[in-house]
Amino acid sequence: MACSEWTDAEKERLREDALRLIIPHFANNENLARGPKIFVRGEGCYVYDLDGNKYFDSFATLLTTVCGHCRPEVTAAVAKQMQILEFFPNYEDAFTVPLVELARKLAEIMPGDLSVSFFVNSGSEANETALKMARQYHVARGQPHRFKTIARRGSYHATTLGGISVTGLPWFREFFEPLLPGCLFTPAVRDYERPEGMSSEQYAEGCLRELEELILFEKPETIGAMILDPLPGSNSGYPLPPRGYLSGLRALCDKYGIVLIFDEVQTGFGKTGKWFFCDHEGVAPDIMTIGKGFTGGFIPLGAAVTTPRIADVFRRGPGSELRSGSTYGGHTVACAATLANLEIIERENLVSHAAELGDYLRRRLNGLGEKHPIVGDVHGIGLLWAVVLMSDRRTRRELDPKLGVGNFIRDWCYRNGMILRSNGDILVLAPSLIITREEADLVLGLIDRAIGAAVEHFHLC
Ligand SMILES: Cc1ncc(COP(=O)(O)O)c(C=O)c1O
Repeated sequence: MACSEWTDAEKERLREDALRLIIPHFANNENLARGPKIFVRGEGCYVYDLDGNKYFDSFATLLTTVCGHCRPEVTAAVAKQMQILEFFPNYEDAFTVPLVELARKLAEIMPGDLSVSFFVNSGSEANETALKMARQYHVARGQPHRFKTIARRGSYHATTLGGISVTGLPWFREFFEPLLPGCLFTPAVRDYERPEGMSSEQYAEGCLRELEELILFEKPETIGAMILDPLPGSNSGYPLPPRGYLSGLRALCDKYGIVLIFDEVQTGFGKTGKWFFCDHEGVAPDIMTIGKGFTGGFIPLGAAVTTPRIADVFRRGPGSELRSGSTYGGHTVACAATLANLEIIERENLVSHAAELGDYLRRRLNGLGEKHPIVGDVHGIGLLWAVVLMSDRRTRRELDPKLGVGNFIRDWCYRNGMILRSNGDILVLAPSLIITREEADLVLGLIDRAIGAAVEHFHLC
């Protein structure tokens, strides 16, 4: 279907100006050299570009559109709020109705005692806030020397300077050092890396012992927080933790008075087949950070949600308040859109749908591994999956990264109507929660064919 809204000259001008006037976030100059992609419309799991080409978005618009694009319920909620009061800041002593209702909803669905929200505009700000909360909590309780934070290698937490200080991926950090002092890194702890013959629980115990040694070496009274993504994100290919690891972390943090922060910006709101990934192990942190799917891609919103135990430290009277804030954090219309998004997730039972379809995807992706020897490993849960490509699964030899097999597959899929995220030679599948079985088959079929095309193109196996 050709899109008639823009003339060829207007399209050309849009493309030129996009390249000339805008620096994209985490720009990819290699791809930009082939021309910018400009999107104009979305519907369900699909988006349309300037030329009217239709794409299935298997990455849910950067992991946000849990309920799909352009839901009329959300449009109506936003329009209604726009007509009543588009914005009043959540500042000093002021609140709005959608903000309070959203906080109430979060208190209902969040695990454990997590019930007190600090609203922000993004996942990065949520993590930045969580780090500040932990810091001020200790200072307020007479322990200002607890300035160190434990984080994990391989984890992404934010684009801000505080956030990259606890991000364990060198690419995001390298131009910006020195960063925050006192950030300590532990290994990523992936169940699939456990030595042969060792049970998942034994592996978790060993990793926790190492972590405790680090805590003791650094002196527990200097450590304020531990931040981690309980299920690491698309950058590391959704590696599941060993069984018992999260509950072991909880116990260690309790033992040494360390604030435990779970970053579920990417994994929250049904994507793993439960509201939050940590629900799979029944473990709740002291602070949880959320973003992305929280607001369904409609209007930016994030939050750092904590327990009354921590929040009360900031409510002890004048002078004790949390020193953090921004103009738009908890924007009124964003809260209205987010409430509508959460209502859709509940009404359409999208969390259990993600669990059911996730089992199907697991079986089908493993089947893909049997067909193509370059499919090395398949990791994930619910609707978050990573396919790790290898030179040959039997020898477990890595592909030569210079070949760019993952990017070839990504580009093949794009030419054939699907947005697929490739992270080097890891293919990521993270569709909207509304994806149907038929659409899942479409996605799997395209990946299957794209892998076949790559094998032929690069003469693999
Ligand atoms: C696990 C995780 N934490 C935090 C963030 C940062 O969120 P945002 O990009 O909304 O600032 C991301 C974004 O990709 C993420 O995946």
